[in-house]
Amino acid sequence: MSRAASVPVLTIDGPSGSGKGTISALVAEHLGWHLLDSGALYRAVGYAAGMAGLDVSDVEAVTRCAQGISIRFRAAGKDGGVRVIVNGHDATDELRTETAGAAASAIAAMPPVREALVALQLGFRKPPGLVADGRDMGTVIFPDAAFKVFLTASAAERAKRRYKQLKEKGLNVTLAGLQREIEARDNRDASRAVAPLKPAEDALLVDTTGIGIDDVVAKVLAVVQP
Ligand code: DC
Repeated sequence: MSRAASVPVLTIDGPSGSGKGTISALVAEHLGWHLLDSGALYRAVGYAAGMAGLDVSDVEAVTRCAQGISIRFRAAGKDGGVRVIVNGHDATDELRTETAGAAASAIAAMPPVREALVALQLGFRKPPGLVADGRDMGTVIFPDAAFKVFLTASAAERAKRRYKQLKEKGLNVTLAGLQREIEARDNRDASRAVAPLKPAEDALLVDTTGIGIDDVVAKVLAVVQP
């Protein structure tokens, strides 16, 4: 077994708004493990492609952009969360927007772009362990992970959560518009030919509709520490 392969991995996959980001961060903190926010990598590529003035439907150009990208995650201090530095620019705020999410979803459907990000993702597997948050963590990137969870929640509940988050940030959005966007993104992510959004066969399914964060964290931690 290679050194990396002996490092335990907990994969947390699921659609946007299922609570993956929040739950993954809390679980990683509790376990003292590293955290991979793979969605941020796809968002970063969309952002970098836009900054470079590329046509984001040009697969070759976006792939070259993904191959050459520099992405650093930097802890922003107490309660400050994590800043994401893309090609030397702090792009944290831009990466969180719905526009960045939609661009990420579009470029994530391009097989060579996904391929270009594989080594980067595998590099996050370091002792003492890794919590990997995404869509294909348990199916494609870390199929040998010892612990796998798939989080779900109804589209209406996910839209409500997103609405609250974005309103708190002062963004101008509507609940109905968000639900439509979430459903469109789910369809695209689940129906694409490469690494579609689906639970790994050996993943524990956790429906977070109507369940508080603490209870979800407890359910996920129980997978690692029964
Ligand atoms: O988790 P997120 O909303 O930040 O992800 C943004 C987009 O990136 C999402 O629509 C699909 C894509 N993505 C992916 O295809 N595979 C991953 N492992 C993570 C994200």
